[in-house]
Amino acid sequence: MSNIEHEANSAFVIGWPIEHSRSPLLHGYWLKYLKIPGTYEAVAIAPEKIETFIKLLPKSGFVGGNVTVPHKEAVFRLVDHKDEIATVLGAVNTLWLEDGKIHGTNTDGYGFCANLDEFAPNWRQGKTVVILGAGGASRAIIYALGKAGYSQIHIVNRTLARAEAIVEEFSPHLESDLQPHSWEDASDLLGKADLLVNTTSIGMGDNAEFPLDLSNLKEQAIVTDIVYTPLLTPFLKSAKSMRYKTVDGLGMLLHQAAPGFEKWFGTRPNITPALRQYILTDLTKKEPHK
Ligand code: ATR
Repeated sequence: MSNIEHEANSAFVIGWPIEHSRSPLLHGYWLKYLKIPGTYEAVAIAPEKIETFIKLLPKSGFVGGNVTVPHKEAVFRLVDHKDEIATVLGAVNTLWLEDGKIHGTNTDGYGFCANLDEFAPNWRQGKTVVILGAGGASRAIIYALGKAGYSQIHIVNRTLARAEAIVEEFSPHLESDLQPHSWEDASDLLGKADLLVNTTSIGMGDNAEFPLDLSNLKEQAIVTDIVYTPLLTPFLKSAKSMRYKTVDGLGMLLHQAAPGFEKWFGTRPNITPALRQYILTDLTKKEPHK
């Protein structure tokens, strides 16, 4: 992307709704910190407008942007080029223009792994993961964990059929053994886990108790949640109280953003404690009751 390095580039995040997105704050921080004369803005795009938005993108003046809920799958179908990871996931969260064509990738799995690298680097020695949930975020994480060498991947979901569908879809692409489970199996599975991941929305924005007893987990197990509102979710609170190593979900948000920033603005930004604190302050301000 050296051809765009010296211009005042503009990037976006599109979603519906989009007001809750912290991406403008995050990219705005990097632009200011790195003294790059670019812009990054939130654009609300209704589902019925997404096709037009993407079709017009090459002439819009934007150099690319992020895609969030509910557009990741629709945009996947609309881009000119997608890399292997976006193709397997069927979802795109990062777009950029190259020679007038729209390119798409998915950095969610990268963000998840980079967050663990930062806060629990020995996660890479693990072999068995239990992952709770089978939505879009879960898919990205499962694929990343398979590629990172996790040989046993247990997917637990309230709706078993969704976990089964992921197993069927991903097994040809990964060397790992993928197994679907219903929620009733979760407690027994915990004894095998080196890593336990919550990707469900249980506990998002509330303080209800997490509906799974973690006492079967191994002493050295690492426990992580992708929800970061609140930062200490009921799931992490429960794990912390039992003295497990925990990693919160904020770092995934920060790390998944870095590859896009580099594409649009030509510099790889750092994820620093000051940045984390900056975003955290905003999260706390906007959710004073948490
Ligand atoms: P995302 O794309 O962000 O992962 P999603 O597709 O809405 O979001 O998936 C949310 C996940 O949380 C799903 O695995 C969902 O389980 P179902 O597939 O059975 O719906 C899970 N989830 C949400 N609320 C839940 C609850 N109260 N109990 C158990 N699982 C729940």
